[in-house]
Amino acid sequence: MAAPGRGMWGSRVGFILAAAGSAVGLGNIWGFPTQVGRGGGAAFVLVYLVCVFLVCAPILIAELAVGRRGRKDPAGSLEAIRPGNWKLVGVLGICAGVGILSFYSVIAGWTIAYIYFTLTGAVAGSPEAIGQFFGGFVANAPLTIGLTFVVLATTAGIIIGGVRDGIERMTKALMPALLLLLVVLMARSLTLPGAEAGLAYYLKPDFSKIFDMSIINAALGQAFFSLSLGMGAMITYGSYLDPKENIARAAAWVVVLDTSVALMAGFIIFPAGFTIPGFDPSTSGPGLIFAVLPRLFATMPGGELFGAAFFIMLTMAAITSTISLLEVPTSYLIDSRGWTRQQAVLTLAGVTFLLSIPSALGNGASAFFSSLPGVGMAFLDLMATVWNNFALPIGGLGLSVFVGWVWRADEALKELEIGGGMPGAALWSVLIRFVCPAAIAIIIFFTVRDLLG
Ligand code: PFF
Repeated sequence: MAAPGRGMWGSRVGFILAAAGSAVGLGNIWGFPTQVGRGGGAAFVLVYLVCVFLVCAPILIAELAVGRRGRKDPAGSLEAIRPGNWKLVGVLGICAGVGILSFYSVIAGWTIAYIYFTLTGAVAGSPEAIGQFFGGFVANAPLTIGLTFVVLATTAGIIIGGVRDGIERMTKALMPALLLLLVVLMARSLTLPGAEAGLAYYLKPDFSKIFDMSIINAALGQAFFSLSLGMGAMITYGSYLDPKENIARAAAWVVVLDTSVALMAGFIIFPAGFTIPGFDPSTSGPGLIFAVLPRLFATMPGGELFGAAFFIMLTMAAITSTISLLEVPTSYLIDSRGWTRQQAVLTLAGVTFLLSIPSALGNGASAFFSSLPGVGMAFLDLMATVWNNFALPIGGLGLSVFVGWVWRADEALKELEIGGGMPGAALWSVLIRFVCPAAIAIIIFFTVRDLLG
C-alpha cells in the first residue's frame, strides 16, 4: 500500500489516462512537427520511431517499475531500491523538470492566446500576414510573460489539489475529444489540393540523413521528451500505481497513444503546410504550427470555432503535461525533504516562473535572449536542446544501467510480472541491459564530439 498521505490512482483506466496525459502534450503537436521540419522530413520520422520502440519503450517500463517498487519521488525511489549515489539520477531528473517546465509554460501560454486569436479571426490573411502576426505576438513581453504566469498558476492550483482529483479527472475528458479533433483535422489537411507534396516530404525518407548524428540526437531527445522519460515523471506516476496493475500493458497504451498523436500532428501540419506558397519547414522553427494551423482552419467552414476548439484542447493537453513536470520536483520536496505539498508547489512554481522569463523574452523582445552571443540560439531553443537532447537521454542512460545492472533486470521483472505477467520479458531484459545504455552512450558521445570538433 501507499504510505499514508500519498495519492493513488482511482482506477486502471485513470492511471493510463494520466500517464498518457503527461506524455501527450506540446511535445507531440508542437515539438514533433518542428523537429521533423528541422531534421529534413521522413528520415527524422524513421529514426524517431526506432528510438521510441528500441530505447524509450523499455525505459518507460523500467521507470514505472522503479516507481512502483520504490513508492517515492524519483530520487527517493532509487534510494529505496539501492541506497547510495544512484539517487543522483533522480536529482538530475528533478532539475530537468524545472528546466523543461520553464520553457514549456511559455509555449503553453502562446496556445492560450491562440484560442482567442483564432476565435476572433485575428490571425487571418496571407501566409506573410499570419507569420508577421506570430512574430509580433511572441515579441510582446508583458503579454507572453503574463500568459506564462497563467499557465504556471493554473498548474500549481491543480496539483495543490493532489494527484488523483487534479490529474485524472482532467485527462479523462480530454483524451477522446483530442483524438477526435485530430482525426477531423487530418482528414481536412489530407484532402487539400496539393497535399501530396507534404505527404511525400513526411513519408519518403532521404536515406542519406539517417546517419546524421545531429538528426539522431534530436530524434532521441524528442522521443524522451514526448514520452516524458528520463526525468522520473513516470517513476513518480508509477509510485501512485496500484500494486495489482500490469505495468507492461499500461506502458504499451502510453506508447501507442503518444506516438499516434505525434504522427497525426505531422499528417496535419505537412500536407497543409506545403500548400502554402514558399513554405519551408526547415526554417519555420517554434512558430511552425502557429503559421500553418490558422491557414488550415481558414479552409474549413466554421474554421474559427474549429481553431478555437483545437487550441483549447492543445492547452489542456499542455496542462496535463505541465502538471507532471511540476509533480516530479514537488514529490521530491514532499517525500525526501518533508515539505508540505502547498509549500513545495508554490516555491517551485515561483522559481520556474523566474527561470521562464528569459525564454519568454527570447522571441524578439530582447535581442540578447533572442540570439545568445557565442551560441547564436534563442534562450528557449538553448533550454530545449540542453534538457531534451542531453539531460533526458543521460537520465535514461543512468536509469537503464540502474535497472539492468544494479537493481538487476531479473529483480525488476518480479515487479513487472505482477498483475498478468510480462510478455517479451527476455527481450526487455536484453534491451534494458545492453541496447538502451549502449545506444544512448554512443549517440551522446558522437554528438558531443561533433559539437566540440
Ligand atoms: N511529454 C510532454 C510532451 O510531449 O508535451 C512533455 C513532458 C512532460 C516532458 C513531462 C517530460 C515530462 F516529465
